[in-house]
Amino acid sequence: MMNHDRLELLREALPYIQKFKGKIFVIKLGGTVTEHSATLHSLAEEIALCHQVGIRIIVVHGGGHQVTRLARRLGVQQKIVLGRRITDDETLEIAKMIFAGKINTEVAAALHRLGVPTVGLTGFDGQLIRARRRHPQRIVDPETGREELIDYGHVGDIESVNGQLLALLLEHGYVPVLCCLAADAQGNIFNINADTIAAELAANLDAEKLLLLTDVDGILLEKGDPTTRLSRLTLAQFKELLASGRLAEGMLPKADAILGLLARGRTTVHVINGCRRNALLQELFTDEGSGTMIIPT
Ligand code: ARG
Repeated sequence: MMNHDRLELLREALPYIQKFKGKIFVIKLGGTVTEHSATLHSLAEEIALCHQVGIRIIVVHGGGHQVTRLARRLGVQQKIVLGRRITDDETLEIAKMIFAGKINTEVAAALHRLGVPTVGLTGFDGQLIRARRRHPQRIVDPETGREELIDYGHVGDIESVNGQLLALLLEHGYVPVLCCLAADAQGNIFNINADTIAAELAANLDAEKLLLLTDVDGILLEKGDPTTRLSRLTLAQFKELLASGRLAEGMLPKADAILGLLARGRTTVHVINGCRRNALLQELFTDEGSGTMIIPT
């Protein structure tokens, strides 16, 4: 049965397809998005469609959940200090297996099976990201009020980004799939926050959009209540929201990465539910979207 309402969708999509052609979008996949193959395959179709209409896509993924799960299976104790994971020697081994091995291969393969030419990468391939070990940090324990020095182990911060290889790949129609490992000049490998990588790449490549795919419907005022989703925010409104302390906890680690990028004034940031079928297409190709859009003005 051909339904005319359904065809209206293509008309609505036309201006966006025209506008986005040739533009760079950085798509960051959160851990829950890549964990289940049905979710990943469904999302890969949406990404393949974006690629097909000429959007230049870079995929970045994390996968902390899966690291935790494998660690548990291997009997490797995970050290969490004040809610923060410490990447010790054994956890780094697992992170390499999960990030560069399992998830990177699975994401690239999900796109490959739809005919998308992919290239799987770590942060140090082509000297893309230069990282350094994170210095031990003073954190106040909210329970005791005491200050503690926390050494995160093999966790790195980004020192610089060199988008040359990515630009080259995009130029030739490849979709780079990047995991969240990077290294310093001595070849020490670090676990890097994937949201930060995605935001830094978006800035470096002057991306049109940074799309953060999570397992919630966007920025919600009340945790777990999708009816409190904010559909559209300006940078100023986003800052206000941060200052008010109303932002759900899960968003906080992303906030820093997003703020820096928005402040440059070139990239729009979207927070979308990557686990919900069609959420990405709805966000990009309809007027109302599906998640939260933050505009840099
Ligand atoms: N499709 C348009 C775009 O990507 C508008 C999206 C609106 N999204 C929203 N959450 N209000 O630019």
